[in-house]
Amino acid sequence: MKILGIESSCDETAAAVVEDGAEILSNVVASQVEIHARYGGIVPEVASRQQLRTIIPVFKEAMAETEGTWEELAAIAVTIGPGLAGYLLVGVNVAKALSLAKGLPLVGVNHLEGHIYANWLDSNDRLREGKGQAPEQPTFPLVCLIVSGGHTNLILMKGHGRYVPLGQTRDDAAGEAFDKVARILGLGYPGGPAIQRAAASRDANAYRLPRAWLRGTDDFSFSGLKTAVLRLAEELGISSGAPPVSISSPTVADLAASFQEAVVDVLVTKTADAARKHGVGQILLAGGVAANELLRQSMAHRSPLPVLLPKPILCTDNAAMIAACGYYHFKEGKTSGWNLDVVPGLKLVESR
Ligand code: KG4
Ligand code: ZN
Repeated sequence: MKILGIESSCDETAAAVVEDGAEILSNVVASQVEIHARYGGIVPEVASRQQLRTIIPVFKEAMAETEGTWEELAAIAVTIGPGLAGYLLVGVNVAKALSLAKGLPLVGVNHLEGHIYANWLDSNDRLREGKGQAPEQPTFPLVCLIVSGGHTNLILMKGHGRYVPLGQTRDDAAGEAFDKVARILGLGYPGGPAIQRAAASRDANAYRLPRAWLRGTDDFSFSGLKTAVLRLAEELGISSGAPPVSISSPTVADLAASFQEAVVDVLVTKTADAARKHGVGQILLAGGVAANELLRQSMAHRSPLPVLLPKPILCTDNAAMIAACGYYHFKEGKTSGWNLDVVPGLKLVESR
């Protein structure tokens, strides 16, 4: 069963065709990183205009790459939220138009649920070092850590679409912290990859940075860490207004490494604790920050359980994950009507 997925919730415009919720037949992502990099972050008006320009060539390319026909598709899955209304509307309206023109059912998908379902796509890294082979597929119950630019959520997943929220960030999302600290250090946008590059082979213990453990809860907090980096940067004479500094600046690189270590330490420790507490058999990582090399390695080393995680390219925003998630909805007969609308503040809840 082939599903066309469409994603436009943030600064990527993406379309993909996925078979049976697993096999990627095409996966086209048009990133706006270069456009936004010159402003040091996303400019919403620029992003939605760019999405309008890009969406049609992107879904045409996704269809062309599969060498299949529209008749072979079973449905069209599209992200309805969370995200900015102006971006989401582009994808949802195109999906509706295609659904009408081609007579295909429409499936509205939660972007966060999509990130989780990237773990069902073939070609994932089924990681487990020294603690036995990870199963081929995610197996319930499991604990999932979603770490993206806008969200940090720990979730107990009991079955397809059955989510019990365990904890979330009380202030900045993990990805947001990477982006803000990269800006403080003059490392540019997007911050996550920039910090990872700067931190490579540097001393992660060079600076002692605070970790907010919020003991007794599965919640997170990263704003104190961000403020600590800001104070240190000021003391060290690193000015955020300055043009991007060279990542070869040892002070900046050590500070980036110490920050990355602090974020990963908290994410890994709290995720492993939650998995133990809830007696699950697996840990899943999802979202853009799950592309982080240190997080991937530390989770694998320090987890008591098998860790499943999408390939880095499938952690960041893409439409293959939306198609995979849409497949599981569609299989259960969950399709959307013409009144399908965007839901910018959509939450991930126990939905079935
Ligand atoms: O999931 P995503 O692509 O978009 C949202 O749904 O937000 O996540 C984007 C976030 C950004 O904050 C970006 O800096 C972060 O993921 N990110 C990373 C890495 N790659 C992307 N953070 C740390 N290390 C990375 N390698
Ligand atoms: Zn995302």
